[in-house]
Amino acid sequence: MMSQVKKRIAVIPGDGIGPEVIREAVQLLELLRDTHGVRLELTHFDWGADKYLQEGVSLPDGALAMLSTEFDAILAGAFGDPRVKSNQHAEDILLGMRRGLDLYINLRPVRLLGAHLTPLRERAPSDIDFVVFRENTEGAYCGAGGFLKKGTIDEIATQEELNTRRGVERIITAAFEYARAHNRRKVTMADKSNVQRFGGDLWQRVFKEVAAQYSEIEANHQYVDAMAMFMVLDPAQYDVIVSNNLFGDILTDLGAALQGGLGLAASGNIHPGKVSLFEPVHGSAPPLAGKGVANPIGSILTAAMMLEYLGYEAASEAIEQAVAETVGARATTRDLGGTLSTALAGEAVRQRIQVA
Ligand SMILES: NC(=O)c1ccc[n+]([C@@H]2O[C@H](COP(=O)([O-])OP(=O)(O)OC[C@H]3O[C@@H](n4cnc5c(N)ncnc54)[C@H](O)[C@@H]3O)[C@@H](O)[C@H]2O)c1
Repeated sequence: MMSQVKKRIAVIPGDGIGPEVIREAVQLLELLRDTHGVRLELTHFDWGADKYLQEGVSLPDGALAMLSTEFDAILAGAFGDPRVKSNQHAEDILLGMRRGLDLYINLRPVRLLGAHLTPLRERAPSDIDFVVFRENTEGAYCGAGGFLKKGTIDEIATQEELNTRRGVERIITAAFEYARAHNRRKVTMADKSNVQRFGGDLWQRVFKEVAAQYSEIEANHQYVDAMAMFMVLDPAQYDVIVSNNLFGDILTDLGAALQGGLGLAASGNIHPGKVSLFEPVHGSAPPLAGKGVANPIGSILTAAMMLEYLGYEAASEAIEQAVAETVGARATTRDLGGTLSTALAGEAVRQRIQVA
């Protein structure tokens, strides 16, 4: 169903190639107003390295409150600039939004758009088509730990992992809800519960409890080391994968490689029902910035994810279809074997959007 209410989008292009690729995604969103009746109000924000260097401002005061009350979604490019060695602005802006808005789902689709893109031999697009639900707010990335006798031969460093019942339950539930809504037949949880006995035990118990509420969906478990192997040997077995922050981080990079590289990979940082953040997986790629060679497809597929989240399913599918045709026709940037500039690669997708 097409929503009649105008959705409010905060657009934060960021640094490096961010503005170049986000420009293509924005032009596509503007086209979809005409072809699919998508009703969006786009507001641009100049948060990034330039602003940080000129004004000392990274994530402005009051930004999180503004985003959560005045916007439905955020479309971001990438953050990171060689002039800011500490990377402080990127951390403040990106982690600030992920943590401050409690965006507990990191959703990363892994979908092969053309057999020529994967480094795996003899794989068809139907063999690589799954989504990863990575827990995005706790686990090994919570910053808990410390040093004892730092700098001495007896130094001890501890690095703790936080798993809350609430945090584990909500990411596993999100994975099953997604499977149900998208007719996926299986959810596979990856952990290391054979050695990480406490956190692993919690994940195991919660997974079984949640799975029992979704009897039509197969609930499957693999140790994460085995999953890394099977993602390469037999990726067709996966539908929906759910894992913690650390393992999800690693598995999704492997997934990005299987689908053809960073230029294509899209992601959502989601809290269902609340303002959520959509961004390409790649960074600001400073050596490519300003040259018009960056691949805009990661950002374009990110815009498609955002539209689906906002209830514009038909428009989202139209983008995915147009991108698949573009990639099939090799009308792409150089990283995917084409010859087009960023702007022409974006234009190639727009030309293939079918009117609804
Ligand atoms: N989410 C983010 O904003 C994010 C993520 C990763 C890295 N970063 C930051 O970006 C900066 C550069 O980091 P990096 O070099 O490790 O990662 P990167 O993703 O920017 O680039 C890695 C490689 O991938 C290629 N690449 C990336 N995006 C591409 C695209 N759209 N089209 C074609 N090729 C593409 C680049 O040529 C580069 O060789 C750093 O400051 C880093 O902190 C930001």
